[in-house]
Amino acid sequence: MFGKYVLTLGLTVTAAAAFGGWFGSAASAAPAPRVAHPAVFNRTSASEAPQLGAAVNDVMLAKAGPRYVRTLLAHYRSITPEWEMEMSQLEPTRGHFTFGQADGIVAFARRHNMPVRGHTLVWDQMIPSWVLHGDWTRAQLENVLHTYITTVVSHYRGKVEEWDVVNEPLTTDGHMRQSIWERVIGPDYVALAFRWAHAADPNARLFLNEYGAEWNDPKEHALFQLVSGLESAGVPLGGVGFQAHLLLNAHPPQAELTGVLRQFAALGLRLEITELDVRAGGSAPLARRMAEEAAIYKTVAASCAAVRACARVTTWGISDAATWIGTANRPLPFDTHYQPKPAWYALRAGLTPRG
Ligand code: XIL
Repeated sequence: MFGKYVLTLGLTVTAAAAFGGWFGSAASAAPAPRVAHPAVFNRTSASEAPQLGAAVNDVMLAKAGPRYVRTLLAHYRSITPEWEMEMSQLEPTRGHFTFGQADGIVAFARRHNMPVRGHTLVWDQMIPSWVLHGDWTRAQLENVLHTYITTVVSHYRGKVEEWDVVNEPLTTDGHMRQSIWERVIGPDYVALAFRWAHAADPNARLFLNEYGAEWNDPKEHALFQLVSGLESAGVPLGGVGFQAHLLLNAHPPQAELTGVLRQFAALGLRLEITELDVRAGGSAPLARRMAEEAAIYKTVAASCAAVRACARVTTWGISDAATWIGTANRPLPFDTHYQPKPAWYALRAGLTPRG
């Protein structure tokens, strides 16, 4: 597998070399039993459409009013808490866990029989200051992360069907991102996080989630090597999430994204588009920008629909009224008045499998 890219991407080979020794040691560890993941939502056939999910935050649930909830329940079938499950929100001070906000979203989802994607256990962002500014040995930080993952995943055992265990581990050129986890623990942090999460909830489907890997390029190649190595080492990885934060001038052709998804599907993993939105700001005529945005939504949805292992598309929010990248970017399928945009109709059309 590593030799596959030797002649194409020196940077990726660098990444492979970094992983090679690690996987060599990790591979010698007794492989975790292949877990039989629960059927949360599996596409039983390629003719079945991927499920549609949305990122939801407790502010919108509490204050956005009936149109928000009505739109969510009418069109979306799964929920990802937008920020409420980040480490800075759940363990703001060491040993003090604050689950209230996330519990509210999980309770809402369970009331409406909507599966929950837990997001995210280990990331380079939204790390509480007591972790970020600590002077940790490797063993001490492993203990911090082990305790955190075990506490959080145990708290939601049986209520959160999937976890984005490790989020955005790679840089654009395919190297390991120099997060505190990577710097102090080393690349082993990825496999350790998955093993700890699996030990806390053996039935949860565990994802590695990344952005900017929707193209056939060095980052995607490095992601494939990372994922392949984890699988070879018997790490309990159940899926890969492609965030798909796209722009009008930066989005993959449908054939390219479909090819990427097929490559990962061949590893036997569940795939999901986990954070779809399209920055559509700018000075060009609005109608043109909305049409271009719709075409991108259709491309992403159709790429997922074309690959049976791709079981869900989650948009990172519902309405332009509440988006992490600002309303002016008009990135989501519904407008600020919860009226469907061209992107909504295109998303629905793309999710309908062809043939
Ligand atoms: C963002 C949220 O939307 C913001 O509200 C929060 O302040 C920061 O995180 N990739 C991710 C998500 O994996 O966690 C990020 O969500 C968007 C980029």
